[in-house]
Amino acid sequence: MKVCTSNKNGAKRIMAAKRYFDRAYEVQNKRETRALYEDWAEVYDQELEEKQYAQPGRCAEVLREMLPDGEARILDVACGTGLSGRALRAHGYAHVEGCDYSPEMLEKAKLSKAYDALFETDLNEPPMDAVDESYDAVTAVGAFSFAHVDPDALEEMIRVLKPGGPLIIGINEKYHDEGRVSAKLESLEAQGKLEVIKKEKGAHLPGADVDGWVIAARKAA
Ligand SMILES: C[S@@+](CC[C@H](N)C(=O)[O-])C[C@H]1O[C@@H](n2cnc3c(N)ncnc32)[C@H](O)[C@@H]1O
Repeated sequence: MKVCTSNKNGAKRIMAAKRYFDRAYEVQNKRETRALYEDWAEVYDQELEEKQYAQPGRCAEVLREMLPDGEARILDVACGTGLSGRALRAHGYAHVEGCDYSPEMLEKAKLSKAYDALFETDLNEPPMDAVDESYDAVTAVGAFSFAHVDPDALEEMIRVLKPGGPLIIGINEKYHDEGRVSAKLESLEAQGKLEVIKKEKGAHLPGADVDGWVIAARKAA
């Protein structure tokens, strides 16, 4: 009888999680996106781990190639529950901070113990509470997507990054192909604010057959 109940709950959880994943590509505005993460926070890690979420590891690996210093101070924007911060820790970075606008996701990030500090901020409403040129690197994994972080927020990420510091973006293929992140990066390059160093297509969520891009840029020195 007990086993039956637990199976039923497990099945319910998986069905709900499937709806969250589908909803992530369907949200239309801030209200819907915040509501999605409020609900999703509880089972986000479980679902993404089941779908073999690859972007946090891919992004941390590219950062490691560009910035081998494990003592570097890193800001992980739209950190969510901390999967991206955990990957950075696993790649040897000792000082990772995170920010996100979802209190529910931030609560999970706190429990992950991957971050030295966490703060709540809406990246589409700058400025965030961070000092100019204070981070050695910025990562944005799964941040840019439909009705999520707008590509204009790249300006704010550059503001808090030290000159010459790497900016690593992990982005799903659908949103990448929509073109707004690439267009913003091209415009920032044309203004001499950064240089795109590398763009690599690969796995995003292989368990759901979704590919994605890792884009690595460096702020102008
Ligand atoms: C797909 S999750 C990625 C989380 C984490 N980086 C990861 O790789 O698992 C997207 C995150 O972006 C956050 N987010 C979306 N729009 C945001 C905004 N405008 N400002 C701050 N955070 C935002 C959501 O709350 C959510 O935690």
